Amino acid sequence: MTKENENGLLHQFLEFWKGLFIIRFLYSCGQRYVNLSKNWGNGLMKILALSDIHTDLVREEDKNDFFTMLTTFLNAIENVNLVICAGDISPDPMELTSTLKTIGEAISAEYYLFVPGNHDVWEVPEPKNEISRFKYEQQLKDVVETTKFRYLPFNPLCINDKIGVIGSIGWYDYSLRNPEWDEHLSIIDVSYSDKWYAGFVWNDARYANWGMKDEEVVDYLLKQLEIDYNNIQHCPYKIAIFHHIPFKEGVENKRVIKWDYFSAFMGSKRFGEQLLQWGVQLVIHGHAHRPREYKVEATHVYCAPIGYSQEWKTGLEKELAARIKIITFP
Ligand SMILES: [Fe+2]
Repeated sequence: MTKENENGLLHQFLEFWKGLFIIRFLYSCGQRYVNLSKNWGNGLMKILALSDIHTDLVREEDKNDFFTMLTTFLNAIENVNLVICAGDISPDPMELTSTLKTIGEAISAEYYLFVPGNHDVWEVPEPKNEISRFKYEQQLKDVVETTKFRYLPFNPLCINDKIGVIGSIGWYDYSLRNPEWDEHLSIIDVSYSDKWYAGFVWNDARYANWGMKDEEVVDYLLKQLEIDYNNIQHCPYKIAIFHHIPFKEGVENKRVIKWDYFSAFMGSKRFGEQLLQWGVQLVIHGHAHRPREYKVEATHVYCAPIGYSQEWKTGLEKELAARIKIITFP
């Protein structure tokens, strides 16, 4: 065999293995693509989710910078179909409205959806009887509808008979408490309905008034949610937006009573059980101020809070990038 033939054979041998490598590489990419699409469908929607903007607690002198940075951040995000704001802007309906207007102007999308949080149904400093129910059912609906946002409770959205979206403030019935503390609390005679532990108060005790016990608020909201769900039941893809947390997996306990006591006010597992039973594929909530992405059975869950400035570890610009979620669905 001549040197040329030897080189030719070597070349063919190397080309064969290179080809085989490329085929294997493409196959593995294909596998990955197939797996992703099996989980997530065909990416019909690009969703931007955020919550807990807390305009009520941004210092007056910081408001200008805060909104400039937020709008600059939102402005740079393109091709969004759905903007979701999961509550906690302000107890002041005018401040809530102006915040939603600012967001609506900063980002263009086909749909804008809002559910209120506990701060939004407060009346400060002294709540009138049933004011939270009035705000939830009527006042907030009226003011939100002067913006680009759709007030989602009592008004579910069905997009092309494909994607159905329901929403609720959610509430708590202490079912997401850390049960490790039950005995201790009964010994010292502190109950969760007090919303008070060792000098710390959960502010709903002062500023929210539904005219019902917390467990009854959950009953009332679940009944409403079921009516809304019946309107989107036919959609193969379902999204639920909450302010409070519907799953225990979304609650962070620290095994320190001063912290864990307040886990009881994070949400209710009854909402989560219902959402799983309905086969809702995507849930977005707020309330917890730590951004999270997690899965409960087949349901993908996102929490995208901006939170309070004292909770940020870096500057606002980096915090916004880490906290606001862009989700492709389904
Ligand atoms: Fe909040």
